[in-house]
Amino acid sequence: MKFFVDTADIEAIRELAATGLLDGVTTNPSLIAKSGRDFKEVTAEICKLVDGPVSAEVVALDHATMMKEAEVLRKIADNVCIKVPLTVDGLKTCKALTGEGTMVNVTLCFSANQALLAAKAGASFISPFVGRHDDNGFDGMDLIEDIRLIYDNYSFATEILVASVRHTTHVLQAAKIGADVMTAPPKVIHDLFKHVLTEKGIEGFMKDWAGTGQSIL
Ligand code: G3P
Repeated sequence: MKFFVDTADIEAIRELAATGLLDGVTTNPSLIAKSGRDFKEVTAEICKLVDGPVSAEVVALDHATMMKEAEVLRKIADNVCIKVPLTVDGLKTCKALTGEGTMVNVTLCFSANQALLAAKAGASFISPFVGRHDDNGFDGMDLIEDIRLIYDNYSFATEILVASVRHTTHVLQAAKIGADVMTAPPKVIHDLFKHVLTEKGIEGFMKDWAGTGQSIL
């Protein structure tokens, strides 16, 4: 499963990129607003930090303007992936852009039928929002299971990008289901490294090693 980080915070991206485990970045208008940065400037910086896809979202709601915005955004770097909302105009834009060889991430997906439409529109990624699904009394992971089943039934190439990830259990469940990608806030990715027994084990080994008086170097 690929790991994308869901942020426009340059320092957080730099830190995670240095682990060698980061496969891409997702942003959205709220994350750009939170960063306080100029959208195009920060996107260009992010694209230099990672080799993989960097999702940059259009903000227009009509197809013609989405295409114009996409034209500006995709010129920023070769690894820009245009993010469009799951609407009729969004999917029209998806179909047009993917036909031209541009990566497209279809966002704000809350049903398996919506995911089916995005795959038919040739989306590179579909982003079902599991956390927001959970918030509204549904099980976000049921949605991922349904999409996996449908995409496998028809061998769709669209990658399932689990979004709105709130905790490490979401990551585990996404991996068990066989999602292609997950995008999570930096904190959730850092939490994946942690286990109390790992920390306790290191503490014990360090204490015993110090008692030997030896040094490796
Ligand atoms: O990738 C989508 C994500 O940014 C939404 O997350 O936590 O705002 O539901 P959240």
